[in-house]
Amino acid sequence: MKTGVVIGFDESKHIAKKISKELKFKYVGAVVRKFPDGESYTRIYNEKLKGKKVFLVLSLDNPNDKIVTLIFLAHHIRALGALKICLIAPYLCYMRQDKQFRKGEVVSNKAIADLFNKYFDEIITVDPHLHRIKNLNQIFKIKTKKVSAVPLIANFVKKKCKNPFIFGPDYESYQWAKKVAKIIGCGVDILKKHRYSSESVRIKIKEKLNLKDKDVVIVDDIISTGHTMMEVIRDAKKLGAKRVLCICIHGLFVENALNKIKKLNAEVYSTNTILSEVSKIDISKSIIQSIIKR
Ligand code: R5P
Repeated sequence: MKTGVVIGFDESKHIAKKISKELKFKYVGAVVRKFPDGESYTRIYNEKLKGKKVFLVLSLDNPNDKIVTLIFLAHHIRALGALKICLIAPYLCYMRQDKQFRKGEVVSNKAIADLFNKYFDEIITVDPHLHRIKNLNQIFKIKTKKVSAVPLIANFVKKKCKNPFIFGPDYESYQWAKKVAKIIGCGVDILKKHRYSSESVRIKIKEKLNLKDKDVVIVDDIISTGHTMMEVIRDAKKLGAKRVLCICIHGLFVENALNKIKKLNAEVYSTNTILSEVSKIDISKSIIQSIIKR
């Protein structure tokens, strides 16, 4: 598809350049910085976009500034006459705020969808956090495509573990944990989580489980503060697990989460939707497939 152009950023070029190479789309780098007063400055190094399908690649962790950048760029690209603008956001932000938990709260996932509906023609993302809404088209009007990291995670676990047992730390995680366990053909348990605040969670684990010979693998979509993983690690160790692996799709790792988890003697791995020292599962090929099959 020679009419395709990929726009990548410093944080996303590990995926954006692979898309460009594989699909023979031109790669255009975007530069983002801040003016002294905090306003955003954005520049692209090629403006020949008339009649082109433009793929903007950027994960939306630490999202607020990035959203401004993307909106400004989409506005600019549209004015240059692009045929279509597709946002590839391997990590899609604000999906967890999917209802008014307390009176007066903004339902952010709908606000984001309404905003993106105005600026993009299409969105491709990897395993968005869908809970109370079951698919993205319940909130987005534009075309959406969901890429799944589940087969890659299952393969990764198969290679790393002899005798795995999978935990999903909360109800929402069943959609990843159960499918991973099914592909591997191993045991799985979905736990119950109660969240008191961003920093405080309690998780119930069945005390009769014997985890002595197991490689315990906790699978979740997101690790943010790490408290969810840390709760399960402690319980799994009490039940005899010698080896614990925490695997997530999107490693946000805020507040030094990675080190806190490692201190509990657990291994941590994630996909590379957000690049970090533990992003060992490459999702690029699956994203490329989803572009081809659109
Ligand atoms: C929410 O339900 C998600 O699936 C994750 O479990 C959650 O975001 C993890 O957050 P934290 O790492 O802060 O416990």
